This record gives sequence, C-alpha cells and structure tokens, in this order.
Amino acid sequence: MRILVTGGAGFIGSEFVRSALRGELPGSEGAHVTVLDKLTYSGNLENLAPVAAHPRFRFVTGDTCDARLVDDVVAGHDVIVHFAAESHVDRSIDTATQFVLSNVLGTQVMLEAALRHRVARFVHVSTDEVYGSIDSGSWTEDAPLAPNVPYAAAKAGSDLLALAWHRTRGLDVVVTRCTNNYGHYQFPEKVIPLFVTNLLDGLRVPLYGDGGNRRDWLHVSDHCRAIQMVLNGGRPGEVYHIGGGTELSNRQLTERLLAACGADWDVVDHVPDRQGHDRRYSLDITKIREELGYEPRVRFEDGLAATVEWYRRNRSWWEPLKPASALSGPAVPAGT
Ligand SMILES: NC(=O)c1ccc[n+]([C@@H]2O[C@H](COP(=O)([O-])OP(=O)(O)OC[C@H]3O[C@@H](n4cnc5c(N)ncnc54)[C@H](O)[C@@H]3O)[C@@H](O)[C@H]2O)c1
Repeated sequence: MRILVTGGAGFIGSEFVRSALRGELPGSEGAHVTVLDKLTYSGNLENLAPVAAHPRFRFVTGDTCDARLVDDVVAGHDVIVHFAAESHVDRSIDTATQFVLSNVLGTQVMLEAALRHRVARFVHVSTDEVYGSIDSGSWTEDAPLAPNVPYAAAKAGSDLLALAWHRTRGLDVVVTRCTNNYGHYQFPEKVIPLFVTNLLDGLRVPLYGDGGNRRDWLHVSDHCRAIQMVLNGGRPGEVYHIGGGTELSNRQLTERLLAACGADWDVVDHVPDRQGHDRRYSLDITKIREELGYEPRVRFEDGLAATVEWYRRNRSWWEPLKPASALSGPAVPAGT
C-alpha cells in the first residue's frame, strides 16, 4: 500500500508516520509512506528524524494549495490521510486568511487530485470544534455544524467539501473529528506544551478567563490508532468521532500540570478570556466503538506524565521553537 500523508511534519501527522513505518498501526505494515508538508512554523523535519532514513519513507516539501505539485505527488498513491491545516485557534483570531487557504482551498485541491487519480480512500482529519460549544451532553456525528472561531469555520468548510465530493462523485471519503490531542512533539504554542515548557524554564503561565472551559483530552497515539481503524474499516461518506475519555476544565488541567512540574498557583497569570472561547466540547464516541472497536488506551495520568518527561528530556527539540510560540501568552519569569 502507498499512503500519502499531508501535514506529516506536524504534531499528529508525524506520530501517524512514525507509527506506520514502525509497523505499530495494524493495516499499515509494509506500507510506503509519502509526506507532503509545507513546513510552516509548526511543521518540523525533526519530528520525522526517527524515520527519515527508512527505505519506505519519502518527504516532499510543498503546499496543498499548489495544484500542479499536488497532482504530481498524489499520482501512484492508494490512500490519503489528510492532516495538513493551520491548527492554532488564537492565530486564526489574529489573522484568518491563511486558515481559509490551507484548510479550505488546500483540502479542495487534495480532493480533486484524489478523484483524478482514483485514490481508493481519503481520510479527512477534523475536529470537535466544528460543532461550536455544548453546555451538557455530547454531540453525535449528525449534530449540526456551528463553528464559532475562524479556525473551526475553516475546518467545517473543509469537512463539508470532503463529504460533498463523496456525495457528488463517489470519492471514498471518511471524516474523523477528534477532541484535544496531547503528547510528545506538540508545538509549544498549544496549552499543554506551552505550560510545561514555561514551567520547566521557571516562567509564568497564562490561564484564560475563569479557567472553566472544558475539553476532552486524547493521547496522540490513541488518535492515530483510531485514524488507522477508520482507514481500514470506516464506511465511505461517514463521520467518526474520536475521543480520549478525560474531560477536564482548564483549571483542573492547570492543577495537574503544576503538580507534574513541581510548581504552584502563584506562577499562574489570569489573563482575559479568548474571544469567542467555546465553553465546552464533548463527543459521543459510540459509533467508532461499536463499528470499529475503538477505545482510548492511554490513561490521562500516564500520558501526561510521559509527555512532561519527554519535554524535560527533549529541551533541544522545543527550545528553538519557543520564540515562534510567543503569540500564545506571556513568557515572563515566574518571580515577576
Ligand atoms: N492538535 C489537536 O488537538 C487537534 C484536534 C483536532 C483536530 N486536529 C486536526 O489535526 C490536524 C493536524 O493537527 P496538528 O495538531 O498536528 O497540527 P500542526 O500545526 O502541528 O501540524 C500541521 C502540519 O501541516 C502542515 N501544513 C499547514 N498548512 C499546509 C499546507 N497548506 N500545505 C502543506 N502542509 C501544510 C504544517 O507545516 C504542519 O506540519 C489538523 O487538520 C487539525 O485541524 C488537531
């Protein structure tokens, strides 16, 4: 099998590529893996260093919006797993044009090429954020899309395009929507690595609003295992939810991060809430559990401890990235 992974130099895509080439994803053993990645600020070849010399690995630098290049790259691939996107909500609130280009136009270009080259399956990786916010209960896959921030609106647009190509031209598309991922190799602008790297450096951490916003946490390895299950056995034209089973408020998450890094509440800055900050996300994962047998395996306590330890041991990976993550909050010494 020949798999094309877009955005494979990012956090989740690189986990998928490393795991696939190591034979850890049943169904992808022996697969040839091509990564197409633009290497934006969050794309990092270091994430792929462990498999860079693998004989079944190929890397192509390029933009999913570049139709000519995409046409060349897609040719000869059996399946596409499409991760490439601008992914950081705060950046989208600051300036959203690149989100529309990469997330909507980039997906459209990939879908058209997949159709032209008769790709057997296109897995489109999306997010719970497309549904907006839910006070209680959980969304099922048929819930209406009601995104509140530009990132989520652009992802919703790409989901609808992917499903439209299935309905109109029969392209074998499956959409996954997952909860908040965490784990190693996550760019230090996202809350867990931002807090951990700040705390390891003795810096302060910013907590939005009253800290009451709630998210479900999914370990990146569980997410990639579930994507592979969808690639193997998901039904064409369907949406599958992927969750981690640990819902926490940002305040509870901060409590755990402080404990894991040996810090206390006096290093926390209470900063004004994010504009349009969704209060709560929650996915019902009954469908993927019953149809494909997915269950999250990584307990949050274990996954978080391993993640903190990874950042502790891999300072050389994240230190050069910190200046580019400054948008996400003040990096001032804890004593000030
Ligand atoms: N991180 C999460 O918690 C989370 C949750 C739900 C869904 N997702 C989705 O998963 C996917 C991957 O997220 P991530 O956290 O790994 O993001 P990331 O920002 O770490 O990685 C994105 C990758 O895509 C590449 N890229 C961006 N625009 C591109 C373009 N136009 N052409 C080619 N490559 C491009 C970047 O260089 C980078 O390597 C995204 O589609 C995101 O919406 C992420």
